[in-house]
Amino acid sequence: MQGSIYTTFSEMIIEKMGMPVWNELLESVALESGGVYTSGVQYNDSEIMSLVSALSEKTKIDVPTLVKTFGEYLFIHLYKSSPASISHIDNLRDFLIAIDQVIHKEVKRVHPKAYLPNFEYDEGADNELIMFYQSKRKLCHLSEGLIISAAKHFHQKITIQHPECMHNGADKCKLIISFED
Ligand code: HEM
Ligand SMILES: [Zn+2]
Repeated sequence: MQGSIYTTFSEMIIEKMGMPVWNELLESVALESGGVYTSGVQYNDSEIMSLVSALSEKTKIDVPTLVKTFGEYLFIHLYKSSPASISHIDNLRDFLIAIDQVIHKEVKRVHPKAYLPNFEYDEGADNELIMFYQSKRKLCHLSEGLIISAAKHFHQKITIQHPECMHNGADKCKLIISFED
């Protein structure tokens, strides 16, 4: 996972819980990087997973909720750092559709070592967009958080259902986004 994701994660912990908690977390898990992260560098995925499970033990908040909360926090950082031009996109639906073939595709071009999830789209019922998420990382709850913040950014009210999940043995996660107006 990109260093920028790690630096944003540490920022969130420090902002919401304070530096001592971040330092305790670092002490409680053995990390190859020593907990020092640089944007643009790739770090072992297991580091973020260990940090999140240590945080979960400490706070008694379950891992999916923590990952989703982090997604909500992460969105604006990713949005601002996009290498693809996205400022002309003025609504949530077009934005979500652009993630796979525009935004993440450009991220991959600029950072060939990045590993990006795969999204497929389906129309669904009126006022719905279905996103099928697939990744070895199974960070579907990160997607939920990112989508929640993207919706706020575009002033769009939504609900998300997640009826099929890789964590329950499905080969893709099904996210049904319902647009409310
Ligand atoms: C609602 C919007 C978005 C969703 C749902 C989304 C989804 C995700 C998810 C779930 C991951 C974690 C990796 C994985 O699952 O395998 C990820 C990684 C990433 N995304 Fe997005 N993303 C969104 C917007 C963006 C934007 C706007 C950017 C702009 C730069 C971006 C750039 C990245 C980068 C750099 C990574 C890390 C890749 C790596 O560590 O190798 N994403 N995205
Ligand atoms: Zn899932």
